[in-house]
Amino acid sequence: METTATEHDRTLVIIKPDAVERGLIGEIVGRLERKGLRIVAAAIRQIDEELASRHYEEHQGRPFYPELVAFITRSPSLVMVVQGPPGVWKVVRSMMGVTNPLEAAPGTIRGDLATVVTENLVHGSDSAESALREIQLFFPDALG
Ligand code: RTP
Ligand code: MG
Repeated sequence: METTATEHDRTLVIIKPDAVERGLIGEIVGRLERKGLRIVAAAIRQIDEELASRHYEEHQGRPFYPELVAFITRSPSLVMVVQGPPGVWKVVRSMMGVTNPLEAAPGTIRGDLATVVTENLVHGSDSAESALREIQLFFPDALG
């Protein structure tokens, strides 16, 4: 199918508990908006263990899993659907930087603002399929 300039796509972004605690919502949302992406749904949400286990189901059984669930459930997050051009999940992932903030490039959210792998400020869907699954998980009423 041909693409057009007006075609868009959506991905799930979570501003994690550490970022909300540190007062970095504005910084992170500002970066996404300045890039030209749009926030089309957003909610402050205390993620509970059940939702965390569904969201991070791919990591169940890994050594860091208990710490990951304890972290993501410890205080409220800002959960958002972000809209942009086709493949927007990839744009967000590149703006986030790699998982370990010590290895994340300067200019990225993690590279500029964090130092600890467990406290890496943001989540972004890692594929088009993940984006669809995660948007449905957190915003079952959202369109697209
Ligand atoms: P996220 O899912 O949160 O956006 O992060 P990601 O894709 O960059 O990384 P992923 O591999 O999905 O891991 C999920 C989260 O688990 C924590 N983690 N800790 N201690 C460790 O070796 C380790 N590895 C991963 C990180 O906080 C990561 O964001
Ligand atoms: Mg991930």
